[in-house]
Amino acid sequence: MGLRYGRRIATDVSSASKAAIADLLEGARQRTLALVTPLDDEQLNAVYSPLLSPLAWDLGHIANFEELWLVQRIGGREPLRGELGRFYDAIESPRKVRGELPILRGKELRAYMCDVRERTLEVLAEVDVAAEAEDRLLRGGFVYEMLIAHELQHEETMLQLLQLLDGYELPLALGTEPVPGGGPEAVVIAAGEHVIGAPGHGFAYDNERPRHAFELGSFAIDRTPVTNATYTRFMEDTGAEPPMYWERDGAGGWVDTARGRRQPVAPDHPVVHISWHEADALARWAGKRLPTEFEWEAASEHLDAVGHTWEWTSSEFRPYPGFEAFPYPEYSEVFFGGEYRVLRGSSWATHPRVARSSFRNWDLPQRRQIFAGVRLAEDA
Ligand code: AVJ
Ligand code: FE
Repeated sequence: MGLRYGRRIATDVSSASKAAIADLLEGARQRTLALVTPLDDEQLNAVYSPLLSPLAWDLGHIANFEELWLVQRIGGREPLRGELGRFYDAIESPRKVRGELPILRGKELRAYMCDVRERTLEVLAEVDVAAEAEDRLLRGGFVYEMLIAHELQHEETMLQLLQLLDGYELPLALGTEPVPGGGPEAVVIAAGEHVIGAPGHGFAYDNERPRHAFELGSFAIDRTPVTNATYTRFMEDTGAEPPMYWERDGAGGWVDTARGRRQPVAPDHPVVHISWHEADALARWAGKRLPTEFEWEAASEHLDAVGHTWEWTSSEFRPYPGFEAFPYPEYSEVFFGGEYRVLRGSSWATHPRVARSSFRNWDLPQRRQIFAGVRLAEDA
């Protein structure tokens, strides 16, 4: 949680040795495996929600994505398990069908993860990852950082499901409870041009580029996200639904049933598991509005924004002017348009390596399974 917004991660692989890259890949894998260590095969294969993949799918997908990029694509090797990749293609095999696919399970799954990793390390020894390498995928280790980030991002997706398992104990070093917010004190940002997006060097996703200037009117934005206490008042006033996973405690209060237990809702913690529609209605109830994603980014240097929750913005997920899909259109480009809304920030379940002020997350406005709350803004 020590990371500040607006600053680059300290260990971008562009200056790392091959040994350091191997260590980072290993570190991400240890964390993935630690998450599922307490589970048996039945739990790994179970479908708990149509919105969330069985954990076995995430594990196989992580390894298959690694094979695709780090073994087949840059190593020129043939696939290890024939046509298997189809079932792990997120677009070809959407979440609601993943429980029925002939994906790898049990020992076979573990063996595949190990076999891929062995080849990944073989290939790493052969390639040129120097800052001036000819292949743009390899230059500065880009494709390795992409794979590390991919695995870490899937860990958060897995945590969305893991928190639903009765009695699941979060492995100790992996995240903390959401950080309680302070007061709703706002920061005022003066009108003017703001630099939006990631710089051209170092790792970032294609959707964060190109960096460009954007003119904003003056606005005020809260220093902290909306709390459970405020959300409860909004519910009482308007009859709005409770956030996902809240249940009545029988005495007029609320318990949170996520994270494998029943806990009284903590009033001073940021509200999570609300939809964009709920976030938007709450903002209007409060006489304010959602920030645009650019307002959020422009203000991020002044805000305590890390690790509370993802925050819905009013922005639709669209390309920046001059966008170029890299290295593949299925990461961002296929989701552009009016359907998805942008979330900024990061949650307790996000690894700091993938939390940065230019990072754009996205989901459908009705979705509530992600760790998403809201921060309020208004014209000033
Ligand atoms: C950035 C979280 C929306 O889960 O669809 C994982 C991350 N992309 N594998 C997603 C992602 C490919 C992505 N989100
Ligand atoms: Fe993925």
